[in-house]
Amino acid sequence: MDAARYLVRPERWEGLPLPWGEVFGREAPLAVEIGFGNGEFLAEASVRQRDWNWVGFETSLTCVAKAGRKLALAGARHVRLALVDGRFGLRELFPDESVHQVFLHFPCPWPKRSHADRRVVEPGFVQTLAAVLVPGGGFRLVTDVFSYAEEAGEHLRGAGFRVEGPAELPEGGPGSRYEAKWRRQGRPIWALQAARGPKGSTLRIAEGAMPHVRIGRSIALEDGRRVVGLKEAWPGGAFVVKEAYGSPDGRVVLLRAFATDGGFEQQYFITVVPDGEGALVKLDGATVPFRTPAVKRSVAAVGAALEGR
Ligand SMILES: C[S@@+](CC[C@H](N)C(=O)[O-])C[C@H]1O[C@@H](n2cnc3c(N)ncnc32)[C@H](O)[C@@H]1O
Repeated sequence: MDAARYLVRPERWEGLPLPWGEVFGREAPLAVEIGFGNGEFLAEASVRQRDWNWVGFETSLTCVAKAGRKLALAGARHVRLALVDGRFGLRELFPDESVHQVFLHFPCPWPKRSHADRRVVEPGFVQTLAAVLVPGGGFRLVTDVFSYAEEAGEHLRGAGFRVEGPAELPEGGPGSRYEAKWRRQGRPIWALQAARGPKGSTLRIAEGAMPHVRIGRSIALEDGRRVVGLKEAWPGGAFVVKEAYGSPDGRVVLLRAFATDGGFEQQYFITVVPDGEGALVKLDGATVPFRTPAVKRSVAAVGAALEGR
């Protein structure tokens, strides 16, 4: 699969934010695209501007595969794709003042109020932008939804960005699938350009260290089944243990868990393996999640529950 050449798995790195110079094998200005879809813009822009390092975020695996093919066909080299929510990725994977430009083209508008937390541009995202962009660094939004662009402009101005637009873009958008689709339908396209003003700050929550808990007794599948349903919720997040599985020899227990940190959701496995007279509770290597507070709390809580505390 072509995408494998471009894929970066940031959750597997010990140290976050990522050392992008090491990831790319060279230091260069960083550009980020959130929601790259089938990758038309990334393929074209990264070949046109070869002296930049390009990072794309997507939540759809199909898009990652399609974009990988486009990038390979275009001969793109300095691009990395991450299957990660771009709001989380931008905040957690880039140090302050390290990104030159962020692009967002035709984000899903999520017009219903009850879905507002799924929109990419919201005050938390703007705070992240103000922290990770270099002084004067830019954010470009292109959308067919005028109200989305207008609201984005308000958030950005509120955070001290210099904003131009939204202005109608009669031609010359990102050249992406959605641009082509909306232009075929005759919809107006809107562009908004913002440049960072004062530096912002943001709270990063993911850390590199793998949490683990040692417990003083051996564990069987029955013990694992007893922690199914274990859950905690607090203002910043929550976790729940969903299912328990055992290895054929009964020595290893696997727990499927779900965690959310401020709306960033992850599914993963916690494994309980024999360790001398006792057992070790840790994240399973097959589904390494970002080590967020909710993930770490889930491992600690499973350890405590199995220990009988
Ligand atoms: C309407 S499509 C636009 C795709 C592409 N930019 C284009 O112009 O053709 C929106 C894309 O954003 C992706 N997406 C939605 N929310 C995202 C998020 N939080 N982080 C990264 N990608 C996201 C979706 O999977 C989808 O591919």
